[in-house]
Amino acid sequence: MSNKQFYLGPIKQLVTLRQVDDRGPISNNALETIKNAWLSIEDGKIKSILHELPAGVETDAIMQLQKEYVMLPSFIDAHTHICFSGSRSRDYAMRNAGISYLEIAKAGGGIWDTVTHTRGATQTELIDGILERASTLVEKGITTIEVKSGYGLSVKEELKMLRAINEANKTTKAELIPTCLAAHIKPKDFEGDHAAYLDVIIDELFPIIKEEKLTKRIDAFIEEEAFSAEVVDRYFKEAKAMGMEITVHADQFHPGGSAVAIQHGALSADHLEASTESEIEALANSDTVAMALPGASIGLGCAFTPGRKILDAGGILAIASDWNPGSAPMGDLLTQACILGTFEKLSNPEVLAGITKRAAKALKLNDRGSIEEGKLADLVLFEGNDYNEIFYLQGKKLPSMVFKNGKLIFNN
Ligand code: NIG
Ligand code: FE
Repeated sequence: MSNKQFYLGPIKQLVTLRQVDDRGPISNNALETIKNAWLSIEDGKIKSILHELPAGVETDAIMQLQKEYVMLPSFIDAHTHICFSGSRSRDYAMRNAGISYLEIAKAGGGIWDTVTHTRGATQTELIDGILERASTLVEKGITTIEVKSGYGLSVKEELKMLRAINEANKTTKAELIPTCLAAHIKPKDFEGDHAAYLDVIIDELFPIIKEEKLTKRIDAFIEEEAFSAEVVDRYFKEAKAMGMEITVHADQFHPGGSAVAIQHGALSADHLEASTESEIEALANSDTVAMALPGASIGLGCAFTPGRKILDAGGILAIASDWNPGSAPMGDLLTQACILGTFEKLSNPEVLAGITKRAAKALKLNDRGSIEEGKLADLVLFEGNDYNEIFYLQGKKLPSMVFKNGKLIFNN
């Protein structure tokens, strides 16, 4: 039924998000909900939102829902590292015994441990890992997944990761958005300083990325033990000169990265757990999306991104899982977004917008994130009649159906 026009309904409660602003607070009663709606879907897109099934539609063009469902735009996980090999359960145990994430990194564990395992994996093994993780995300209503490299950290190994992500994208039911995070940390086996490492990435990796069209997005981790604001300057300028979009791992433990993100016109500044009033203000006055990663706060036992303050200042708040083997091993976007909501006092509509419409903005994907005419028919259905139940149950309530481009890709 994906290309031919068909009608889907009746939808007990349709939550469109089409009137939601890109930025700022959203009150509890501000969401448009439509009772007993029908969608007309054609060529994978929403053709129209209807209040009833038009007369005379042929039965084979009707997908009749047999129960009461809430329908939302399917979720977007706009920051993940699901291309990896190995486990960091030992890091987790050490952290909970009192050794910090940065101390573990300094001692040679942390990200470097995953680099070692990921380098030891074949491209096929990486593809299998991505596909498996992506399929668990699809079952939770996520149909767009950003996936970063960053555990290769050499030209050859970053290419292996980016090629694996692109190959996985050909068979997964979700859509993967690859991002190059070659500036994750300076690899321990590189002889030379941070600038010299990035010179190699710029001069040798970027041209191949461009030629093979492996990604349009470039990321860097700005932090002690990673890269300084100064040293990423050339990396971002060269990336932009090639037409790439920028995104930044920013203000995770120390402020600084978000200013760099804004300065380079980044699509998003992600983490922000250590952002202070001045970073919040600057983000709110920019078009850079502030991306909260509650999975990293939960995984590390750190503060949450100041989502409430960001929204109240007029910022654009999106929420992603950061699924990775180190700081955020849980990989459950809806649960994490709901928990962020309780700690940060975000309304359910703010949480929902953060994993749909505002997450789409962070990826510059104008074709999704809300249910409206002309947008992709990327949809998630939960049994029930009130979207608030979904947030109340903090990710425990699972989707019954998931559609990607008008195609039913999960049916429980
Ligand atoms: O987003 N902060 C830096 N990078 C990842 C963690 C990667 C890892 O620990 O393996 C993050 O939290
Ligand atoms: Fe991350």
